[in-house]
Amino acid sequence: MTGDLTHLRREFRQSGLRRDELDASPIVQFSQWFAQAKEAGVVEPSAMSLATADDDNIGVRTVLLKFFDEKGFVFFTNYDSTKSQQLGSRAQAALLFPWLALERQVKIMGKVERISTLESIKYFASRPKESQLGAWASQQSSSISSRSLLLSQFESMKNKFAKGEVPLPDFWGGYRVIPETIEFWQGRENRLHDRLIYKREEGEWIVSRLSP
Ligand SMILES: Cc1cc2nc3c(=O)[nH]c(=O)nc-3n(C[C@H](O)[C@H](O)[C@H](O)COP(=O)(O)O)c2cc1C
Repeated sequence: MTGDLTHLRREFRQSGLRRDELDASPIVQFSQWFAQAKEAGVVEPSAMSLATADDDNIGVRTVLLKFFDEKGFVFFTNYDSTKSQQLGSRAQAALLFPWLALERQVKIMGKVERISTLESIKYFASRPKESQLGAWASQQSSSISSRSLLLSQFESMKNKFAKGEVPLPDFWGGYRVIPETIEFWQGRENRLHDRLIYKREEGEWIVSRLSP
């Protein structure tokens, strides 16, 4: 079985992106594009690819963006997972939002830090109880002999925390990607796409156009 996908070819014609339409703040620009992605019915517009690396390996996976503001882009995960081990070794990441229904992508690169325990507690408390128990039940990224073991761990957490609030596990919480660059990509005809990138220079955001 082979797959030849060279006949899959599509022109991007929906719109263009001019520098003078960009907001001075990439965060405001991101929030406008995010609202448009939601409006256009993009499935899970907050889903983003998260790329990390250490000296030996690179990794990429989907996570959900939960908060964003001038300070950065926050997602939540297990602090013992592969991604967290990589972030422990090299505190840098790239994020990618593929909003293909709009022929757009946004790429963010920057340094990464853990958010405060208080912020994690606040978000964890807002999650449905089953998701809270799921976080307790899963040793994310480690191998597990069967699904039934996972389900039995879930059941035992359910019993353990049957009464009262489920506390934040000490191995779970948020990371903030503090952006150094944010690139807005809009597909155009003949592969002459628009790419406008904001770079943080001495506290200011400087915009430039990149060749597609
Ligand atoms: C749509 C979608 C959303 C996801 N959201 C998260 C998330 O917010 N946090 C998380 O830890 N994993 C999330 N995952 C699972 C990750 O992609 C990944 O399997 C997991 O975090 C383990 O990654 P790692 O072994 O590279 O650390 C999501 C997966 C999908 C497909």
